[in-house]
Parts: sequence; structure tokens; C-alpha cells
Amino acid sequence: MKGIVFREFTDMVENHFGESMVDDIIATTNPASGGSYTTVGTYDHGELVAMVGVLSDRTGIAAAVLVHSFGKHLAGVFSRKFPAFFDDCPNTFEFLKKIDNHIHVEVKKLYPDAELPKFTYLQHSELEFELIYESQRDFSHLAHGLIEGCMEYFNEAFQIHREDVLGGGNTTVIFKLRRLVQ
Ligand code: HEM
Repeated sequence: MKGIVFREFTDMVENHFGESMVDDIIATTNPASGGSYTTVGTYDHGELVAMVGVLSDRTGIAAAVLVHSFGKHLAGVFSRKFPAFFDDCPNTFEFLKKIDNHIHVEVKKLYPDAELPKFTYLQHSELEFELIYESQRDFSHLAHGLIEGCMEYFNEAFQIHREDVLGGGNTTVIFKLRRLVQ
């Protein structure tokens, strides 16, 4: 996984829990990389999962909740670092449609060794939309948080229901979005 993700994670941990928590989770997990993450480097995604596990032990907050919050945070980071992707889109559904065939394609050009999930979608109506996440890893809680972060960016509100598809080697999760009409 790219260092940009690690850096944003450790920055978030520092802002919420303090610098000593970052030092603690790195010292405790003792990552093979040494834990000095540069934005352009590439690291084993297991190091991030291990840090989340220790942070969860220390704080008593479930790992899934931590990763979800990180996803929301990351959506804000991406909107500031890569505003063009967001400016191009009028709303969340149109933005989510572009992850797989545009956004992550550009990410792959920028970082050829990026390990990206696959997204497909089904638009049922103006109100209902499904985003299907498939990955060899399980960052589905990150995806959930990212979707919510995008929803906030576009100032929209949805009920988001996740459905895990069991079986097969990959992680597959269907996110069902229903627009809340205000
Ligand atoms: C401007 C918007 C976006 C940018 C620049 C971006 C960029 C990236 C980057 C750099 C990675 C790391 C790849 C690696 O470490 O090898 C990544 C992974 C990922 N992205 Fe995106 N992304 C964006 C939007 C989204 C959105 C909206 C979602 C979900 C709704 C999403 C879901 C994910 C997930 C779940 C991963 C983790 C890898 C996995 O699950 O296999 N991304 N993305």
C-alpha cells in the first residue's frame, strides 16, 4: 500500500490521540519497513492493519470503526489534494461512478505499484444506487468511510446499507445507497 495512505493515517492518529500514540503503535507493531513512511514509498498493507489493531487495543474503539473514520478523513484529504476529480462531478453518485474507470486509473498512472480494489455500480433510480467493492484485501470499512466522506463533501444524505457477499477468495461488499429526501 502506498505511503500516502500510511502518512495520512499516522497524521490522523497524531491529531486525535497525540504523537506518543503514533510512537507507541509503531514500536508495538515493529513493522518490517521500520515505520518511517514516505508518501511515495510502498509498504505491506498488513503493517497498516497491525497498527489499527494496536490502536484499537489502546483506545477500546473497534478496528472497523477506526478504519471507517479514517476513510471519512481520507475523503477530505483527497478533496483537498486532488480537487479536479471532485470539481468534475455534480454529485456523489456521479463521483462514485468514476472511481474505477477514471480516478483509480489516474492513481495507477501516478503510482504503478498501487494495489487498488475494483468497483462496479448499478444505478437503479435518482434515489437508489449500488456500489460493489471487490478486493484481494479487506478495506471495505475504508470504502464505507470514503463513501460517507464524499456524501458530506457533496452535501448530500444517504442511508448506506452494507451487504457482505460471502464465498470466493476476494472480499466483496455491496453498498446500497438510498437518498434521504430532505
Ligand atoms: C480523488 C479520489 C481518490 C483518490 C485520489 C484515491 C486514491 C487511492 C490510493 C492512492 C490508494 C492506495 C493504493 C495503494 O496503496 O496501493 C487507494 C486505495 C483505495 N481506494 Fe481510492 N482514491 C480515491 C477515491 C476513492 C473512493 C471514493 C473510494 C470508495 C468509495 C476509494 C476506495 C479505495 C479503497 C477501499 C482502497 C484500498 C485498497 C483496497 O481496498 O484494495 N477510493 N485509493
